[in-house]
Amino acid sequence: PREDNEPLYAVLAKADRFYREALRSHPKRNAAVDYLRQRGISGEVAAQFGIGFAPPGWNNLLKHLDAPQDAIKAGLIIERDGKTYDRFRDRITFPIHDRRGRVVAFGARVVTDGEPKYLNSPESPIFQKGREIYGLYHALQAQRRIERLIVVEGYMDVIALTQAGIPGAVATLGTATTREQALLLLRSAPEVVLCFDGDSAGQGAAFRAAENLLPVLQGDRQVRVMILPQGSDPDDLIRQDGREAFENRLNNASPVIELYLSHLHSDCDLATVDGRTRMLERASGLLKRIPDGILRETLLGRLADLTHTDPQRIDNLCRSQPPKSS
Ligand code: CTP
Ligand code: MN
Ligand code: MN
Ligand code: MN
Ligand code: MN
Repeated sequence: PREDNEPLYAVLAKADRFYREALRSHPKRNAAVDYLRQRGISGEVAAQFGIGFAPPGWNNLLKHLDAPQDAIKAGLIIERDGKTYDRFRDRITFPIHDRRGRVVAFGARVVTDGEPKYLNSPESPIFQKGREIYGLYHALQAQRRIERLIVVEGYMDVIALTQAGIPGAVATLGTATTREQALLLLRSAPEVVLCFDGDSAGQGAAFRAAENLLPVLQGDRQVRVMILPQGSDPDDLIRQDGREAFENRLNNASPVIELYLSHLHSDCDLATVDGRTRMLERASGLLKRIPDGILRETLLGRLADLTHTDPQRIDNLCRSQPPKSS
């Protein structure tokens, strides 16, 4: 029942106020403030995203709370071997808001260097990673109607794009884009541009996002993919090249179907029967989930060209295969 979760929202709101206040006034806040400034984040944008600071020490938040039970459930306080202590210590905090603007979790970055670089709240009754999209609440606040969502990997990418005056940046929280997130993205804007890091992890993430977006993509929506230079992410790129160059890249992003096909292509040697079979086997999993329509026809046609196979045969092949047993 919904009301059972009210104490969790309340303790997360309290922690949110505590961290934001610590970034303004805690005696040990200086390194965090300098770090944010050095990354080009203004006080205004920091406030817009509710960036905060979890001070060093094991019980700053704990001391601030009346009782730890709800904070433990919300993932803010860790309970182990009968001891309780703050999860986030000496880190810059990024509150994650649900679509109604309630804080449901935090991400937290080390100030400058350290491992792990990011720590996140664990899942809880009110936080399931695969359901939330970081920055969507802020994007909806900033624009009545979102024309274009730019999906990036990280908190700092969302914030850097916003800081640079590029609206609509959101992030899936370090996970593969789920089907639920895909639906939410496509419901929120007519155009979605995937803009993941220019490394193999980022390209893998884009491919998996494509696999979840294509089956729910309808004719009135557009999904494109922007390829970043090797080794850079949106935050690096916008600071290096500026807003105009970044917008040019956005405008030149390729349709998601092209990215999908070229990724499959790079994994399969189409000069061999084996490679062509592998490509069709891998594509059939996706084809099964795409409803009849122009997109499906297009994909069938492109696969037919690439593998020199009759499209009808590809269609039959994927319709006759039994569904995966997972
Ligand atoms: N991430 C995470 N846990 C990690 C590393 C990354 O949850 N240990 C998530 C975070 O949401 C992070 C995003 O993945 O924002 C992108 O990670 P990465 O590209 O490694 O971050 P960087 O761009 O290197 O981070 P920064 O620019 O802050 O140095
Ligand atoms: Mn990365
Ligand atoms: Mn990155
Ligand atoms: Mn990195
Ligand atoms: Mn980065």
